[in-house]
Amino acid sequence: MKKEIKKGKIVVSKDGPYLVSGNLPLEKEIITTDKEGEVCCWKKGKIYPVQESYALCRCGKSKTAPYCDGSHVEDVFDGTETASRKKYLEQLDSKTKGPELELTDAQSFCANGRFCDRKEGTWNLTKNSGDPAAKKMAIRQACDCPAGRLVVWDKKTGKAIEPAFDQSLAVVDDPSAKCSGPIWVKGGVQIQAADGFEYEKRNRVTLCRCGKSCNKPFCDGTHVRIGFEASL
Ligand code: FES
Repeated sequence: MKKEIKKGKIVVSKDGPYLVSGNLPLEKEIITTDKEGEVCCWKKGKIYPVQESYALCRCGKSKTAPYCDGSHVEDVFDGTETASRKKYLEQLDSKTKGPELELTDAQSFCANGRFCDRKEGTWNLTKNSGDPAAKKMAIRQACDCPAGRLVVWDKKTGKAIEPAFDQSLAVVDDPSAKCSGPIWVKGGVQIQAADGFEYEKRNRVTLCRCGKSCNKPFCDGTHVRIGFEASL
């Protein structure tokens, strides 16, 4: 029987790694493209050994990535957390309404995954959600957004449509953008700031691991702009 994990936790250490506890599984997830070169799917990669607790690099300098090797001390890392502490729904930039779906968008969470760019884009697909194919694609694209920037809501029930995730972590690889991506946190894992503040628990969110996000501890897509490459 599958072991359910409910108590996974990530503590953001001051100017240091993410301290992970609770037997959280860790794997690699790879962003793949369709034949037109548009981002379309996730592919599972390496599965890392299960450990009760471990430290994941967030400075971007570790030579044993995704784990911390202490490089943040030598190459002094400023990991100051600058992200808003408001809840997702208090950070929205826009709401897009269609006949069947509504789409909420909080850009500060964007990890530059680019699933939302495919076809005519998630916003237009939502506007056209009276068409079953458009509706299906809008749901798929929003659910594929690792950062939880985009959430689709069923207008009939008023509920968010979310992928079913167990608590787990994944390090993202983005070969089409020629870079390594963030840490994808799934299934409502508690993330705690260095000062003890508990960020809103969410089904999907991404944490910076290049060390350069302006929205720490969350990813802001900077890894794509700088071509970040993790060591392993
Ligand atoms: S946070 Fe320790 S090596 Fe990057």
